[in-house]
Amino acid sequence: MKISNICCIGAGYVGGPTMAVIALKCPEINVTVVDKNEDKIKAWNSHDYNEIPVFEPGLKEIIQEVRGRNLFFSTDIKLAIEKSEIIFLAVNTPTKTKGKGAGMAADLTNIENSAREIANFANSDKIIVEKSTLPVRTAEKLKEILESSNSNYNFQVLSNPEFLAEGTAIKDLFNSDRVLIGGEDTPEGEKAVNALVSIYKKWIPEQKILKSNVWSAELSKLASNAMLAQRISSINSLSAVCAKTGANILEVSRAVGADSRIGNKFLQPSVGFGGSCFQKDILNLVYLSIINGLPEVAEYWHQVVKINNYQRKRFVNLILEKFEGNLSSTTISLLGWSYKKNTNDSRESASIYISEMLLDKGANLNIYDPKVPAEKIKLDIENTLILQDLNTKDRSQILSRVKIFNDIYECCSNVSTIAILTEWIEFKNLNWQLIENNMNAPYLIVDGRFIISEDKLSSKLNLISI
Ligand code: NAD
Ligand code: UGA
Repeated sequence: MKISNICCIGAGYVGGPTMAVIALKCPEINVTVVDKNEDKIKAWNSHDYNEIPVFEPGLKEIIQEVRGRNLFFSTDIKLAIEKSEIIFLAVNTPTKTKGKGAGMAADLTNIENSAREIANFANSDKIIVEKSTLPVRTAEKLKEILESSNSNYNFQVLSNPEFLAEGTAIKDLFNSDRVLIGGEDTPEGEKAVNALVSIYKKWIPEQKILKSNVWSAELSKLASNAMLAQRISSINSLSAVCAKTGANILEVSRAVGADSRIGNKFLQPSVGFGGSCFQKDILNLVYLSIINGLPEVAEYWHQVVKINNYQRKRFVNLILEKFEGNLSSTTISLLGWSYKKNTNDSRESASIYISEMLLDKGANLNIYDPKVPAEKIKLDIENTLILQDLNTKDRSQILSRVKIFNDIYECCSNVSTIAILTEWIEFKNLNWQLIENNMNAPYLIVDGRFIISEDKLSSKLNLISI
C-alpha cells in the first residue's frame, strides 16, 4: 500500500516532534499536523524558530529543514482527514476530573471527539493510529464510534504507543529501542500494520519493530511507564531510609545499579517524578485493575504514586525542620520549574507541589527557570490556589509572595534557602561565593537532584540533599 499523505491530530509534545521526524525521514510523504488550538498552530508556523511551542534539543533544526517542504501545521482538520491515508491520534488524555473513575481513569473525550471528526470527514478507507497513551481496549471503542457514524468506509485501528521522553525526544525518535505496533489479526489488520511498518522502516531496523495484538500494545505502554516510575519510587523510598541510617543513597544506587540484572537507569533519587504521564498512566493502570476486580494489583501500583507524593513532602520537611515549621518571614529561592532538564514543560512538576506547600507555610518564593516562561509559572501556581477554592483576593495575596526572575543570581539574592528542583546543567556551575555574599542565615542549600557538589560550596553554605 503506497502512503503519500498522513496527518496527526494533536500538535503537542508528541505530535510535533514525532511528525517532524517522520517528515524528515520520509521526504516522499506529506505530513500535516492539525490542532484545534489556533495559537499553538500559529506558534508552530512562527517565522522565529525560537517561538515554536515545544522546546526540545534538535527539534528547531528539523523544523527549519522540513516545515513547508513536506511538514505542515494547520487548523484545517477536515482537509487533513480527507486527504490522508493514515491518521495518527496524539491528543492529550489527562486523568478524568469528574464522572465515573474521576481522579484515576483517563479522560478519553479528546480521543472520542477525534474519532467523531474522522467519521464525519472520511471520504475513503482510513488507518487510524493510536499514538496517545490509552487504556486497554480503547481501540474497540474507537472502532465503534467510527463504524456507527460512517459505514461507507473501512477503518483499521492500530495501537502504536509513543515511548519518547521529553528533553531527549529527537534522540529517542531517531534511535528508538523499539517501535510497537498492535493490529487486528485479520488480512485488513495485517495490511494496515505493514503500511505503518513501511514508514518506520525508513530509519528503524526491522528487528526493532515489534508487532503484537492491539490490547498488548495498549497495555505495554502503561506497563512501561509504570515500571519506569516504580524504579524511581523504589530508589526514593530508599533515600528516606538513608536519611535515617547514615547510608548514602547515591552509593546505594550505584551499588544496586551495578548488578547487570537490575541496571543503572532510572535509579537517580530525586524530589519525585513529574511530567504529564507517569502519574496519569499509573492511576489509569490502578483504575483498570480495580474495574477488572484486581484490588491487590491496584494497591501495588498505587503505592508508586503515594511514595512520589511522600517524597515531595519529605523535601519540604527538610526545609521546615530548619525553620521550626514557620516560613513566614523567610524567602526561598526555587531553581528549576520544568519537571526535568531540557524541556519547557512543567506539567505535574514537583516544583508546583513544593511551592504550594511552601506558600502554605508562609514563605516568599523567588523562582528561576531557564525555559519555562514566567506567565506559565504564575499560572501553574494560580491553578493550585484555584483547586484549593481560594477566592480572587486571597489568591492575589498569595501570588504577591511569588517573584519570578530572568537572572539566577538575582533570584538567589536576599534569600535564606535555595532549593534545587530541576537538574538543569547550568545549576552545576554556579558562582557560590557570589551567591553566599548575598544570602541570609541559615545559608541553606537543599538539593532535590544531587547536582551540587559540596566541595564547590563556600564555607558558610549548608548543603542537604533529599
Ligand atoms: P499535549 O497536550 O502536548 O498535546 C495534545 C494536543 O492535542 C493539544 O495541543 C490539544 O489542543 C490537541 N487536541 C486535543 N483534542 C483535539 C481535537 N479533538 N482536535 C484537534 N486537536 C486536539 O499532549 P502530549 O504531551 O503531546 O501527549 C499526547 C498523548 O501522548 C498523551 O496521551 C500522552 O500520554 C502521550 N505521550 C506523551 C509523551 C510526552 O512526552 N509528552 C510521551 C509519550 C506518550
Ligand atoms: C517518560 C518515559 O521515560 C517515556 O518513555 C514515556 O514515553 C513518557 O514518560 C510518556 O509516556 O510521557 P518523560 O516523563 O518525558 O518520559 O521523562 P523521564 O525521563 O521519564 O522523567 C520523568 C520524571 O522522572 C522526571 O521528573 C525526571 O526528573 C524523573 N526521574 C527520572 C527521576 O527522578 N529519576 C530517574 O532516575 C529518572
